[in-house]
Amino acid sequence: MMTISSILRRYSGLKKLFKKMKNYKLQTLIGCISTKDQLSQILKYCNSRCLAVVPQGGNTGLVGGSVPVFDEVIINTRRMNSIISFDETSGVLVCEAGCILENLISFLDKKGFIMPLDLGAKGSCQIGGNVSTNAGGLRLVRYGSLHGTVLGLEAVLANGDVIDMLGTLRKDNTGYDLKHLFIGSEGSLGIITKISILTPPKLSSVNIAFLACQDYVSCQKLLFQAKRRLGEILSAFEFLDAQAMNLVLNHLDSVRNPLPSSVYNFYVLIETTGSEESSDKEKLEAFLLHAMESGLVSDGAIAQDFNQASSFWHIREGVPEALMKAGAVYKYDLSLPVEKMYDLVEEMRIRLGEKANVVGYGHLGDGNLHLNISAPQYDDSLLAQIEPFVYEWTSRHRGSISAEHGLGLMKAEKIFYSKASGTVQLMASIKKLLDPSGILNPYKVIPTSLLS
Ligand code: MLT
Ligand code: ZN
Repeated sequence: MMTISSILRRYSGLKKLFKKMKNYKLQTLIGCISTKDQLSQILKYCNSRCLAVVPQGGNTGLVGGSVPVFDEVIINTRRMNSIISFDETSGVLVCEAGCILENLISFLDKKGFIMPLDLGAKGSCQIGGNVSTNAGGLRLVRYGSLHGTVLGLEAVLANGDVIDMLGTLRKDNTGYDLKHLFIGSEGSLGIITKISILTPPKLSSVNIAFLACQDYVSCQKLLFQAKRRLGEILSAFEFLDAQAMNLVLNHLDSVRNPLPSSVYNFYVLIETTGSEESSDKEKLEAFLLHAMESGLVSDGAIAQDFNQASSFWHIREGVPEALMKAGAVYKYDLSLPVEKMYDLVEEMRIRLGEKANVVGYGHLGDGNLHLNISAPQYDDSLLAQIEPFVYEWTSRHRGSISAEHGLGLMKAEKIFYSKASGTVQLMASIKKLLDPSGILNPYKVIPTSLLS
């Protein structure tokens, strides 16, 4: 165990560096960097003295990817928050890593564009953190993952080298596309400082429906139909079960149930985004009529104005907040074949009985289940009934134990449930090549046993 004074002795050179930048705190040594050159200097210094660092953006991650474990120096990117350029012809935005997602959304809105990424934490998460975790969010079904929309990056390596991969081209087949190594590597290979991203135009007609289904098979069939009947205008397909809905209604004061006449087992939020106001709405209405006539949908409402649309989204986006308010929560973010996905929720319910409230919601359109288990308090015997069962189940169905939240600290040791050992070994070799002293975000992503 290191004492504070020994940590401070080790950090004394670093303190001077931060002091020169007039921006440091002593307790945990948090440095807010403003430029890539400062970051380069700090990393060079830390690397030469084997001082570990944790890159931190908005600190909104869900797997402990941006928290220090022992005495790591926190490098916060919030001051790197400039928009560098925006090209209205190509829709390519170039910005610094510390830009808050919501600020980018507002900036683009004025230009008639949108970010291809949107998520509940948009008010505080930073784009650098989003890219580092390869965040998915609410509209991946339409705009795809950040591996597709991020066109370029600038990153600083552990030794302080600045790597310029900040291309803005959609097509570029000159050698290995190394930016992909940094997208989703959670700051373990380098710290992202700039991003160029392809942004879609903002289309005038957005319609949102909030629907009720009696069973999961109907939700699945509805998705199948939505992809075919709504086609290119489908921009979100989200679901929550009755348990998730109850939590939201019980814990969030501002939420009203748009379908109060009965209790349903599942709720689906469908959003369409297109450019033809009347025909897009007609298309959605015809789709819903067909879904109701064929019995897939038991009840539903289409938002009539912006406030109603926001209130529908608030229900879905409010689930994580309601879970936090309800007590202790065990969170799992799984990719699974859509037809199997909800079996896990039901099996878990049988397994845990009265001990916990098992809740399923998420991005059905992407095959991404958020399985959350809510209990009055954290309890080791409960955890022992959840894990490794949940990981083994996911692995058996060839799913992923992290669809969009990353591995961070909490799930790093579980990587083998979703990746073959040879693949993880190769990841460890890449980590050792780029960060031989292991200073970048230690204990995250790759099991520590592979890095010694
Ligand atoms: C969501 O989709 O709401 C989040 O990814 C899940 C969460 O915050 O638990
Ligand atoms: Zn999610």
